Amino acid sequence: MTSPTALCAGRVAVVTGAGRGLGRAHALALAAEGAKVVVNDLGVGLDGSGSGTGPAQQVVKEIRAAGGEAVAHNGDIATSEGAASLVAAALDSFGRLDTLVNNAGFLRDRMLVNLDEDDWDAVMRVHLKGHFLPLRHAAAHWRAEAKAGRAPAARVVNTSSGAGLLGSVGQGNYAAAKAGIVGLTLVAAAEMGRYGVQVNAIAPAARTRMTEATFAETMAAPGEGAFDAMAPENVSPLVVWLGSAASAGVSGRVFETEAGRITVMEGWRPGPTADKGARWTPAEAGEAVTGLLAAAETPQPVYGAS
Ligand SMILES: NC(=O)c1ccc[n+]([C@@H]2O[C@H](COP(=O)([O-])OP(=O)(O)OC[C@H]3O[C@@H](n4cnc5c(N)ncnc54)[C@H](O)[C@@H]3O)[C@@H](O)[C@H]2O)c1
Repeated sequence: MTSPTALCAGRVAVVTGAGRGLGRAHALALAAEGAKVVVNDLGVGLDGSGSGTGPAQQVVKEIRAAGGEAVAHNGDIATSEGAASLVAAALDSFGRLDTLVNNAGFLRDRMLVNLDEDDWDAVMRVHLKGHFLPLRHAAAHWRAEAKAGRAPAARVVNTSSGAGLLGSVGQGNYAAAKAGIVGLTLVAAAEMGRYGVQVNAIAPAARTRMTEATFAETMAAPGEGAFDAMAPENVSPLVVWLGSAASAGVSGRVFETEAGRITVMEGWRPGPTADKGARWTPAEAGEAVTGLLAAAETPQPVYGAS
């Protein structure tokens, strides 16, 4: 039994891609704070191929073994049917929906010159559409709740990436999708605040099957007794708090989070500017830009750029 004062007591959370890695850690952490959890996972391979019910079932088992409540959902969140049935699973199983954590995804890394259309479409689909569809179905439910006078303290936590914020060599499809998720987060936060819905995004880093081979050294587990900085469980406390009623007033924000660190990411804002008050010639525009760039901050480097 969780304490009635737990951060998510009485709440119902849906986590996509919760059968493994970060999603699994979020689902367990939400349950440990009293949330009833719908554990979604399609059980796909590293590149998105195949499917299976095992990973979601396993996490449901773990939550129940720890005294929590959970059900599995094995739909594809990048389809309307999968997203609609995901929201329905929360309502049918637990009678409400309070928190949506969009997390599912996979990679198809290639340099742009080798990136074929299938790899582009698959990655855009699972991340960007896979965020939009559950968000849209949950939002429709929350708007109806608000209109019926039951203003929800609804929370959405989206999953972007450093690749989306700064760019990442070899990940053109993924970086574009994850940048798109930031844009979606900002619009959703602005549109849905009036219905009691807050929408934020995280850019995590952790040791999962997605990263353990590519970044083996950075992600390695430490020796006995030391802080396991890259454990996915280190990302989940922020997700739980953002997903709880306690985060009232926080919306439309992006947080980098890994190990013991949380960083507020400050987005695009106007830098040095010049106004001629009339149309520039191309040569004048170039001269003005050269001056503006000299006064501007140097951009953060793209991940993997030499
Ligand atoms: N691990 C990191 O360092 C890192 C860094 C930045 C962003 N992310 C993001 O965090 C999220 C989780 O990644 P992870 O590292 O835990 O990877 P992971 O591969 O361990 O877990 C992702 C899960 O999503 C599931 N999934 C994939 N497509 C699905 C679909 N269509 N419907 C339902 N489930 C689906 C997979 O079966 C898998 O279990 C992803 O969005 C990833 O891009 C991870």
